[in-house]
Amino acid sequence: MRNPKSILITGASSGLGEALALDYAAPGILLALTGRDRTRLEAVAGACRDAGATVIAETVDVVDEPAMKGFVARVHAERPLDLVIANAGISIGTGKETEAQEQTQTVMRINVDGVVNTIAPAVALMREKPAPGAGPRGQVAIMSSLAGFRGFPGAPAYCASKAAVRVWGEAMRGELHQFGIEVSVICPGYVRTPLTATNRFRMPFLMDADRAARIMRRGLERDRGRIVYPWRLYLLVRVLLALPTPITDRMLRRLPKKE
Ligand SMILES: NC(=O)c1ccc[n+]([C@@H]2O[C@H](COP(=O)([O-])OP(=O)(O)OC[C@H]3O[C@@H](n4cnc5c(N)ncnc54)[C@H](OP(=O)(O)O)[C@@H]3O)[C@@H](O)[C@H]2O)c1
Repeated sequence: MRNPKSILITGASSGLGEALALDYAAPGILLALTGRDRTRLEAVAGACRDAGATVIAETVDVVDEPAMKGFVARVHAERPLDLVIANAGISIGTGKETEAQEQTQTVMRINVDGVVNTIAPAVALMREKPAPGAGPRGQVAIMSSLAGFRGFPGAPAYCASKAAVRVWGEAMRGELHQFGIEVSVICPGYVRTPLTATNRFRMPFLMDADRAARIMRRGLERDRGRIVYPWRLYLLVRVLLALPTPITDRMLRRLPKKE
């Protein structure tokens, strides 16, 4: 949607969430930011206030369903939500070991349950907003990944979690259209953030977070269902998907793993 005035972003204490918060920060904008690290979150909140935004910053774990519901409701009561970005997520690689059950479940809890805990209460509240004139009632965005188009060895749980929220978001887009709620799924390639800083392999078409934030914002303003970038990596993934599975399996087995 164009010109959202009340924006909630999870995982805003670093990386893409921080870059989005800084990009949207301006006079007249209410930003509601969450993360778990209070110090980093307050630093981002301070920078957004310096840019003129009103900021509500709270350390809330996205896995904590009642806490997330309460946070979303408090922000909506302050100023009805226009845009909610479910960005918080983690990436754990398997290194040399096969992924343990506990690790898989942790990734699923944060990357899948955390997204649902953010989006579901927001959508319920947006649906009750008075019918707008020509524009939408609100917009929600779900942070998936290019890793959500295919299972890559080295990060099975991460890929599965990103595939789950991508498909969920795409279905929700069709479901929520009738209520005037826009849904976008965001699928970044490699972006320079703390999440990718530990990768010891060459990341093709790696980009900076502020540039990624501008691309995401433009896509959201245009109500793109799928915001995928960089396009060259997307093209490679599409080619990979078109190849016969035995060939892709052989190719992917050779890829370096995330530690
Ligand atoms: N960077 C990339 O190349 C890339 C590519 C594709 C998709 N993505 C996705 O983009 C999103 C942001 O990643 P990033 O690269 O910006 O990583 P990042 O710098 O590590 O940021 C992750 C953010 O999520 C928050 N977070 C993690 N677990 C949380 C939890 N349980 N509750 C609340 N907040 C939590 C972190 O907060 P604290 O640090 O305060 O705990 C942090 O603010 C993720 O969903 C990631 O999968 C990133």
